[in-house]
This record gives sequence, structure tokens and C-alpha cells, in this order.
Amino acid sequence: MTGGQHDDRTTIRLVRADPTGDDRDALVAFLSGEEFPFHVRRTISAGDAAAAVDSGSFRDDDHDTSWLEHSDLGRIGIVRLEDLGDPVPLFDLRIAGRFRGQGLGLPALRAVTDHVFRTMPDVTRCEGQTREDNTAMRRVFVRAGWVKEAHYREAWPVEGARPVASVGYGVLRRDWEQGTTTPVPWDDDALTRAD
Ligand SMILES: CC(C)(COP(=O)(O)OP(=O)(O)OC[C@H]1O[C@@H](n2cnc3c(N)ncnc32)[C@H](O)[C@@H]1OP(=O)(O)O)[C@@H](O)C(=O)NCCC(=O)NCCS
Repeated sequence: MTGGQHDDRTTIRLVRADPTGDDRDALVAFLSGEEFPFHVRRTISAGDAAAAVDSGSFRDDDHDTSWLEHSDLGRIGIVRLEDLGDPVPLFDLRIAGRFRGQGLGLPALRAVTDHVFRTMPDVTRCEGQTREDNTAMRRVFVRAGWVKEAHYREAWPVEGARPVASVGYGVLRRDWEQGTTTPVPWDDDALTRAD
């Protein structure tokens, strides 16, 4: 399926989850009921999902988790913000399998970006990483105006296969505010040109 089946009127909002309270069972069911082919762990057993959720790591000083609520479709996935104790947060976005490939990635990432910059006034940039073969996520990053900042070759271990690259994207608050895109200065040749 190609993207774009949901138009610009699509609205997705983040609804904060209560991972060790009301949302515990739904979160465990989501994590253990879906496949995540581009994560280090493609599947998560119900026991492991419960242990991870019950450990508090979906909402603690460094993490916060929200449901992605679509205006028509309801709950379509989750986003877990990470490294919240650092100046630069990261995120892990997971749309449920039945909603993938329908053009929801872009509005979902936009909702995440808006949430980060609107609710965290001290945050000046946000980062995301994905596997080089996660084409859908990489296209979503580019479409959303995030900029590729790193390509870590052979950095992502794959069980039973050669490692793949990990690709890093970032967005600056000022670009988000102004609708601009600040490129990465890649040209290291200039450093040695005078030699
Ligand atoms: C990655 C993810 C968020 C993308 O969202 P999505 O709603 O499935 O993607 P979309 O339908 O919006 O498609 C985005 C683009 O990728 C393309 N695409 C979608 N699925 C694809 C696939 N399986 N292979 C190649 N391209 C694909 C679309 O054609 C679209 O391209 P376009 O921008 O040129 O139109 C979603 O698939 C997901 O949650 N996957 C599992 C978890 C994951 O990998 N998360 C990323 C970790 S940060």
C-alpha cells in the first residue's frame, strides 16, 4: 500500500498513558501482540512485555509513553519518549500493524514533534534513529522535514544476519518554529584544502 490515503485533515494526538495503572494491560497486549520487524526485538512475549511495563520504564524520569489517537480510527499506536533526563530527547514510534502503510506515519511524527516542542520548552532539538532498511520510517522522517545527521555503518545488530546501518535524524526547534530546514555541513574536505 502507498502513503497518502489519509489526507491533511487527519489529526493524531498524543494521549498520555498510565503504564503501571489503567493502561497496563492494553500496553502489554499492544507490545506482545504486534510484530516490529525493524526493532532489535521483532516480537516480545507477553511475559517480557509485562516485565518491561511493570519495571516502570515506560514512564519514569527518562521515559514517557503516549497512545497515538487518530480522530477517526481511534488508538493506532504508541510513542515512547526516551532520554528525557538529557537535553535532547529521542523517541520510539510504533503504529499497529493493521494501520501501517496507510499514510499515517507522517501525521504521527508531526504530532510527536509538536508535542515535544510544545510541552518541553527547554528542548532545542529532538532525535530519532532507525535501521537503514526501514524505508517507511526514513521516508516519514524526510517528509516531516527532519534532517539526516548520521549513518552509522554496520551499527545495528541483526539476529542471524550481517549488521545493518543505523540512520539518525534530527529536527531543530528553530526549524520547527520557522518552517525551515537547516542542512548539516558535511564537507570535511574544506578542513584539509589549505594543507
Ligand atoms: C515506521 C512507521 C511509523 C511508518 O508509518 P506508516 O504509517 O506505516 O508509513 P506510511 O504509510 O505513512 O508511509 C510512509 C512512506 O513510506 C512508504 N512505505 C510504507 N510502507 C512501506 C514499506 N513497507 N516499504 C517501503 N516503503 C513503504 C510509503 O509509500 C510512504 O512513502 P511516501 O512518503 O513517498 O508516500 C510504521 O510502519 C511503524 O510503526 N512500523 C513499525 C515500528 C517501526 O518500525 N517504527 C520505527 C522506529 S522509530
